[in-house]
Amino acid sequence: MCDHQQCIHLTYNVSGDDFTTAGEASSNFKKKLMDLGVDRKTIRRVSISMYEGEINMVIHANGGVIDAYICTDHIDLILKDQGPGIPDIDKAMQVGYSTAPAQVQALGFGAGMGLPNIKNNTDDLSIETELGVGTTLRMRINLED
Ligand SMILES: Nc1ncnc2c1ncn2[C@@H]1O[C@H](COP(=O)(O)OP(=O)(O)OP(=O)(O)O)[C@@H](O)[C@H]1O
Ligand SMILES: [Mg+2]
Repeated sequence: MCDHQQCIHLTYNVSGDDFTTAGEASSNFKKKLMDLGVDRKTIRRVSISMYEGEINMVIHANGGVIDAYICTDHIDLILKDQGPGIPDIDKAMQVGYSTAPAQVQALGFGAGMGLPNIKNNTDDLSIETELGVGTTLRMRINLED
């Protein structure tokens, strides 16, 4: 168990429906990890996972908050939004499943790859969601030793 007491904690606010700033939180956190000398493989996995979660908040949930924790042997990301919730998580986890509207697809999003990508790049993923209340994604990526 990790209570995050000894970890470095960073918080990012993610604005909804703003494609000009979308991805800023994950690129800022990536820089932070590079400055700290975290190994490249871990940085890659964290960046992909955080970016996909961040973009999902922008597109599907009108934004939210990301808490990132850098701990001794792992990185935890907690992404919390107050969006519509996910009606069927198993379906949402499937490659190719997307509810992104046409105008968002025109920007290159909506391949239905984000959640499967997160699953593949994390050591642990949990999704809590309630319709009309919001969604919380908890991701853990272990540091290479
Ligand atoms: N934070 C969220 N709030 C509400 N629904 C979500 C959220 N994240 C994902 N979803 C739902 O799960 C579906 C699948 O998400 P996923 O990230 O895999 O694909 P996508 O965002 O539609 O496309 P891509 O990530 O490839 O651009 C979304 O289309 C949406 O219906
Ligand atoms: Mg997505």
